[in-house]
Amino acid sequence: MNTEIIKIDPNNIDMPLIDRAAEIIRGGGLVVFPTETVYGLGANTFDPAAVAKIYAAKGRPADNPLISHVCSLEQAEELASEIPDRARKLMEHFWGGPLTVILKRRPKVPDIVSAGLDTVSIRFPSHSVAYELIRRAGVPIAAPSANLSGSPSPTAARHAVDDMDGRVDMIIDGGDSLIGVESTVVDMTLDVPTVLRPGAITAEDIAAVAGDCVYGGDYANAPKCPGMKYTHYSPKAKVWAVSDMTKIPFVENSAVLTYGGGCFDRPVYDAGGTVEDYAAKLFYFLRKADEDGIDTLYARLPENEGIGVAVRNRLLKSAGGKVI
Ligand code: TXA
Ligand code: MG
Repeated sequence: MNTEIIKIDPNNIDMPLIDRAAEIIRGGGLVVFPTETVYGLGANTFDPAAVAKIYAAKGRPADNPLISHVCSLEQAEELASEIPDRARKLMEHFWGGPLTVILKRRPKVPDIVSAGLDTVSIRFPSHSVAYELIRRAGVPIAAPSANLSGSPSPTAARHAVDDMDGRVDMIIDGGDSLIGVESTVVDMTLDVPTVLRPGAITAEDIAAVAGDCVYGGDYANAPKCPGMKYTHYSPKAKVWAVSDMTKIPFVENSAVLTYGGGCFDRPVYDAGGTVEDYAAKLFYFLRKADEDGIDTLYARLPENEGIGVAVRNRLLKSAGGKVI
């Protein structure tokens, strides 16, 4: 398949280009687009044949449901059969932004989107290009992260191109993703709102608005969020998650991935000063280490608070649980 790669400035949107992309979505095609979390691989939620192409392009297992991206509360109401009050509060408070809510689905949501579950996951991204694309398409856009299944999510257009060139109709380069880890997924169908996948919006943030919220018992491997049971975020390099940076062994052709400074006896990928900077660059550097031919990567494990909860979750998965 010939993939058209275009650039759209999020601060100065070229609407005719957005309309071309929206036309592809309406016509049953696939468009890779930027969001504030990671790049998404989108198709019309209401077109099962188009959604099937997403699974094929990614090599994604069929039992792993997709998030539908919307640009209004009304559009969410087309997908969800009921929106409890506290879910509505969350949506009003955190949308557009990196929060995905799981609700009971309407029958019109195709089975392939929900992978046979009786729920639907919905997110309203804050990225201007994503917003305009959904608005002009006029339909919710089902979109997983735009990586091949198992690889780190793309947070730079170049990485989305590496994985998706030749597999999709169009890739929109809208610059680097600001947040860098995928959205928080919160199940609003349970008695207590439960985070199935941690993200930039924490359980505490959600509890402050919805009254209550917990991290799913085993959110690092939550069976309720089907995607979390698969190997994930894995570069070719062997990754170690490091809680004590003074204990890194010397290994040929290894590198360190860290933030907040420090001196090391080998090449360093410096993600910046804060854990937010680290989140923004984590997937980028996992891929960069492969591009640089690094065999072993020692990556700092941040504190288990704020967005650090999400970074730890992704890092432990890419390390396959290997911790120093
Ligand atoms: O930030 C994001 O959420 C990005 C951007 C593109 O929006 N999308 C993303 O999608 O990360 P994906 O498909 O890579 O991850 C979605 C996760 C998967 O682990 C999936 O199993 C889970 O959400 N999920 C989706 N629908 C669900 C549902 N109805 N019930 C439980 N888990 C669900
Ligand atoms: Mg993904």
